[in-house]
Amino acid sequence: MRQHVNPLSQFFQLPLSLPSKNILFEKSHYPIHLDIGSAKGEFLIELATKYPDWNFVGLEIREPLVILCEKKRRKLELTNLKFLFCNVNVSLDEWLSDLYFGQLKRVSIQFPDPWFKRKHFKRRLLNTNILNSIAKSMAKDGEVFIQSDIFKLIEYMTNTIDENRYFTRKNLGDLTSIDKNPYNVMTDREIFSLKKNLLIYRVMYIRNSLLFTN
Ligand SMILES: C[S@@+](CC[C@H](N)C(=O)[O-])C[C@H]1O[C@@H](n2cnc3c(N)ncnc32)[C@H](O)[C@@H]1O
Repeated sequence: MRQHVNPLSQFFQLPLSLPSKNILFEKSHYPIHLDIGSAKGEFLIELATKYPDWNFVGLEIREPLVILCEKKRRKLELTNLKFLFCNVNVSLDEWLSDLYFGQLKRVSIQFPDPWFKRKHFKRRLLNTNILNSIAKSMAKDGEVFIQSDIFKLIEYMTNTIDENRYFTRKNLGDLTSIDKNPYNVMTDREIFSLKKNLLIYRVMYIRNSLLFTN
């Protein structure tokens, strides 16, 4: 399976109409944890098993992974979890507008693709548009959690979120002060990085009380 796809290629610019929350979940009013770049899905499968009173959504641009994740999910009969194929930079905003205001309680963006070359920075998924889409649907105290083992990438991500007026950083200063995944489950890449003894940078942001205005 290809490791990276170019999210800016024409194919991935087609907006996908993602299914409404009412048909995604058995209990559509439960709070939602959205994991962006869910890859093989093990993180959300474990969370959905542990926390039946939350709904979980994994968004992933590599469709074969989404098909595999959905197979695993159906086998486990998890009705509070769904994996969806999309380019978040194209389809997230419309899907979020279908939720009740405040239903989106948590967003995690974990070890996103770094796109090291300067000319590829625009392929990085975290940007001001995505943050504003999240800010628009998230009520005060909602969480945006990011982590990476690449300093240059976490620096880019924290700079981008720090500039956004709707989020306030919880762990100021030291990017290594959160010493484990705050949701008590590790992602595949997190397990890999820990095995390799890589330093992991983790930052938690909280949706502040500023009302969203365009
Ligand atoms: C390095 S992997 C990390 C996977 C997982 N979060 C983890 O920590 O193990 C990043 C994932 O983000 C996905 N991704 C990258 N750009 C995306 C986009 N624009 N929309 C949705 N998913 C994207 C990639 O396909 C890949 O599976």
